[in-house]
Amino acid sequence: MTDDRNLGVTIRGMTMPNPVGVASGAFGYGEEYEALVDLDALGAIYTKAVTPEPRPGNPAPRLADTPAGMLNSIGLANPGLDAFVADKLPFLRGRRCSVVVNVAGKTEDDYLRVVERLDGEAGVDGYEINVSCPNVAHGGLAFGTDPAQVERLTRRLADARSKAPGRPIIVKLSPNVTDITAVAKAAEAGGADALSCVNTLVGMVIDVKARRTVLAMGTGGLSGPAIRPVGVACVYKASRAVSIPVIGLGGIASADDALQYLLAGAVAVQVGTALFSRPEAPLEVLDGVRAFMEREGVGSVADIRKLLR
Ligand SMILES: Cc1cc2nc3c(=O)[nH]c(=O)nc-3n(C[C@H](O)[C@H](O)[C@H](O)COP(=O)(O)O)c2cc1C
Repeated sequence: MTDDRNLGVTIRGMTMPNPVGVASGAFGYGEEYEALVDLDALGAIYTKAVTPEPRPGNPAPRLADTPAGMLNSIGLANPGLDAFVADKLPFLRGRRCSVVVNVAGKTEDDYLRVVERLDGEAGVDGYEINVSCPNVAHGGLAFGTDPAQVERLTRRLADARSKAPGRPIIVKLSPNVTDITAVAKAAEAGGADALSCVNTLVGMVIDVKARRTVLAMGTGGLSGPAIRPVGVACVYKASRAVSIPVIGLGGIASADDALQYLLAGAVAVQVGTALFSRPEAPLEVLDGVRAFMEREGVGSVADIRKLLR
């Protein structure tokens, strides 16, 4: 039997009980899924983005179907920092799984405000810095595709959280770049403790009859199985370019999908879009990873990458 201690993944001061988390934006702030998923069986909950002020998000329609995936332009809709702390965080406190808050903003100062405020709050285990959302006019992708800006923002955040030194800064990268290793190295140089790869790919769907884009915003972020090969390649490249851990996501719906990411070099994974149709997916993924480790006699999740021929 694979001892459950072998499934644990430590990033800086945060130890996730197992490597399977639920991705930002696909799980709200946890409460919405409580009746459907045993939250204590998860490795980590990555929350919906939190920005300093409340954001209504983009106009509807904000979702479109695509072959093997979906397109969204939610636009970081969220209740804002104060409401997150007052109304959402209490539910997440004291969980067995790690709680990683996804942080977003229009300016560098916005990101700083969120991390500085949350550093004073119990119940947060780490920060995932969303510099890769394709659905906002300011911040988001504009930060995430410029290595110099990623390095500067990461450094400011890494310095700011020195009050709560255990909490990792995890920079979430975009696949919408020519060379993901440049941005990965920039985040590491700025002091990131880990990377998440990947956010959504920019896409567009046009309704031919109406001769109009299906999404009110025109473009949106493509997620689901369609982007899995892109995500796996990004993890493969990024994990060889840096020495900090990489968390893999993009189109994971089964244990084999997750194992592709772990063999490519990830130390942990997240399940996103698959949750909308199959909330049980993360726990099935975990069972399959555990069974693989037993079968192959692997002592730790981080050792799975050594099996890639
Ligand atoms: C509806 C929706 C909302 C999302 N919101 C966020 C968000 O707030 N912050 C973030 O970093 N990523 C967000 N994402 C991106 C996901 O966390 C993930 O990176 C992406 O969807 C790829 O994984 P998947 O194919 O498993 O969904 C969102 C994705 C979807 C589909």
